[in-house]
Amino acid sequence: MTADLSKIPRSIWWGASEENGKPGVFLLDQTRLPLSSEVICCQRLEAVEVAIQSLAVRGAPALGVAAAMAIAVWSENESTDTETDSWLAGLDAAAERIGNARPTAVNLLGAADRVRTYAHDMARAGSSLADLKAAIVALAQTMAEENEAENRAIGKLGAELLEPGSRILTHCNAGSLGTAYFGTVGGVIYTAVEQQKIEHVWVTETRPLNQGARLTTWELMAVGVPCALIADSMAASIMDSGWVSAVFVGADRICANGDTANKVGTLALAIAADYYQVPFYVCAPTSTIDKSLADGSEVTIEQRDGRELAGFSTSGAIIPTDRATLRALDMLTSAGERNLRLNGKNRMNIYRKAGTYAFDAWFQATPPGLPIYNPAFDVTPAELITAVITETGVYPPGALPGLTD
Ligand code: MRU
Repeated sequence: MTADLSKIPRSIWWGASEENGKPGVFLLDQTRLPLSSEVICCQRLEAVEVAIQSLAVRGAPALGVAAAMAIAVWSENESTDTETDSWLAGLDAAAERIGNARPTAVNLLGAADRVRTYAHDMARAGSSLADLKAAIVALAQTMAEENEAENRAIGKLGAELLEPGSRILTHCNAGSLGTAYFGTVGGVIYTAVEQQKIEHVWVTETRPLNQGARLTTWELMAVGVPCALIADSMAASIMDSGWVSAVFVGADRICANGDTANKVGTLALAIAADYYQVPFYVCAPTSTIDKSLADGSEVTIEQRDGRELAGFSTSGAIIPTDRATLRALDMLTSAGERNLRLNGKNRMNIYRKAGTYAFDAWFQATPPGLPIYNPAFDVTPAELITAVITETGVYPPGALPGLTD
């Protein structure tokens, strides 16, 4: 297989809608991958908030860029203020709302605060409202470009740690889809692939939402990186077999002492890597370091709907194979999306999209009424982390950059 880095997918971009010409935040809808590849255009802050909460856009650095673009879209399409002071008050409220759309990734609030601070500083320096509005749109796009540059730097530094023939393991998706472009772990993989150092990438499925099985595999296969899926519970066993050269994961928040919050399941991988003496690297931009939290006990872990663990979501196309099916689908969707009632809590929505038919479904795999505990993240203690790879360097988790400010 030959890798083609021009095939790396983009998760988020700023543009104008073809329908109404207004600006919007364009997202590759990650809830529908890998069988449906749909782009959504969010023209209101609330639409970006819904996309963040449903994980249509996800991954800490991508969330930061989404927050900045959401504020820009609010300013362009929703704000009716003509006075700078009232616009700034509206901007503060927009930043507060989008910055708290999910609690664990520090990049979300960090990016919202950066846009807010930038606008207030410019206003204090006497900028006109028109200039302020243009400036935050430009800043949101600059933040996306900066993130790509950070990922390329992380990729270079991470690839230096690998030997030819490496078989690396990654969890969740810290690829291009979890960032503005290129990825943190993705950056390491793509750079090392170019240097012909990667034999193979092990991808954990990452239950409950299968970011590994659905997204990382899709991204790596699109680019042509050799990879294989394993069940989350298989990781220790392949380390025991000596088949893992190193583990690379992303991060949602890195505390001052190096404790790292990342997708649930990361801690178990780190414990296994420690036992089998496999290097365990965290890849993240410095904006993911939260100096205000002394250690991992202070991280707010997002609790998500138990239905994510109780069953499986899937989306795809419906391919009518005869005229009768085509007529039936046509009738079912003639008044818009059709919500089919299935037994239990199973559900299936059928809809039309650009002349084709598609479905979103959730299938229950557990007995109804089962109590469920579904935290989305866990915290890996610093002592299990070999090093944190950022855009400015590779650091021991106990000596992170910028902690003396
Ligand atoms: O719930 P998600 O999919 O947003 O969780 C994502 C992760 O945990 C990623 O590993 C992390 O945000 C880093 S993405 C470069």
